[in-house]
Amino acid sequence: VKQSPPALRYLDAALEDLDAKGLLRRRADPCAGAMPSFCSNDYLGLAERVIPAAEAQGAGASRLVSGERAIHGELERAVARWLGADAALLFTSGYAANVGLLSALAAADDLIVSDALNHASIIDGARLSRARVVVVPHLDIAAIAGALTAPRTGRAWVVTESYFSMDADGPDLSALREVCDAHGAALVVDEAHALGVLGPEGRGRCVEAGVRPDVLVGTFGKAFGASGAFVAGCETLTAWLWNRARSFVFSTGVSPVLAGAALRGFVASIEQPELRATTLARAEQLRRGLSALGIAPAGFGHIIPWVVGAPDRAMRVASQLRERGIPIAAIRPPSVPDGTARLRFTATARQTASDVDAVVRAVEAVLACEPR
Ligand SMILES: Cc1ncc(COP(=O)(O)O)c(C=O)c1O
Repeated sequence: VKQSPPALRYLDAALEDLDAKGLLRRRADPCAGAMPSFCSNDYLGLAERVIPAAEAQGAGASRLVSGERAIHGELERAVARWLGADAALLFTSGYAANVGLLSALAAADDLIVSDALNHASIIDGARLSRARVVVVPHLDIAAIAGALTAPRTGRAWVVTESYFSMDADGPDLSALREVCDAHGAALVVDEAHALGVLGPEGRGRCVEAGVRPDVLVGTFGKAFGASGAFVAGCETLTAWLWNRARSFVFSTGVSPVLAGAALRGFVASIEQPELRATTLARAEQLRRGLSALGIAPAGFGHIIPWVVGAPDRAMRVASQLRERGIPIAAIRPPSVPDGTARLRFTATARQTASDVDAVVRAVEAVLACEPR
């Protein structure tokens, strides 16, 4: 077992304590053999019939009980290796991952420093932990340092996304790592919208910055086209979550069907780098096209937000674009702060250059009949 990062080393002792009390749960080999399981919740024996292939069954129970399947470990090892992490653990969704991990790691006397625009799953996980939560202005490293400087009794956790999906921006991860190290805080980074697209080979903004977070969250429901999520880090971390993340322990294991789909999506993203290149080229083209119309899209990368301000204007512009054949939704508060309703375009590898041209022309036409 490799060494845990300093911020998580306390978990080694906590796991030893569980072990000494006979309460440690370890991974078992996937249930196999001729005898049907006697601890599955697949009460009607339907899982095998719903999709009758060896890999394609419901897990039937939590992985701690009888839900462990070979595909779980295969997918976990693949993503961990890809990210240069020691281990990874699957969750049924990114929401379940954030809620489970934050409530399992942070204790009541801890401090969680959270970016003001963090995803609802991070907010809910922080609330569930009962730790003191300090919400800092978006991307404000000085405010994070300030929050960490104040006296505290327990541990400190700095939680951020690497690429914010409504604003297409992200923190200076090297600076964040430095601040965390200087104050003995753990760094938790949710790479949900970055993985598969940003960074070298799509390995995300932490790899790009050469930063090793203590905890990294990724999802399979976005660039990898499937569903589910994972937490990557040291082996102590995943052993702790295996024992204490309630959304993992008390929930049916990820369906092998979905784990298989996630693995295929993940492998495709690696084997077909042209997909990522196309996505980024479309994004660049759309950013250029909108800029030429006098719209300055915020941020960088494959998400292209056009902040229009008032919710009714966002609704009107979206509906006029849809009338012109552009499938787009308006994003309004509370998904974004008041006064920043927007249209959020995303570039994908399925779009052609002429699709992007059509969007730019439609925006131009809508602008022509809009009061600026
Ligand atoms: C940053 C972030 N984390 C987690 C999630 C939740 O992921 P999932 O849709 O897999 O529950 C999202 C979803 O949009 C997200 O934006």
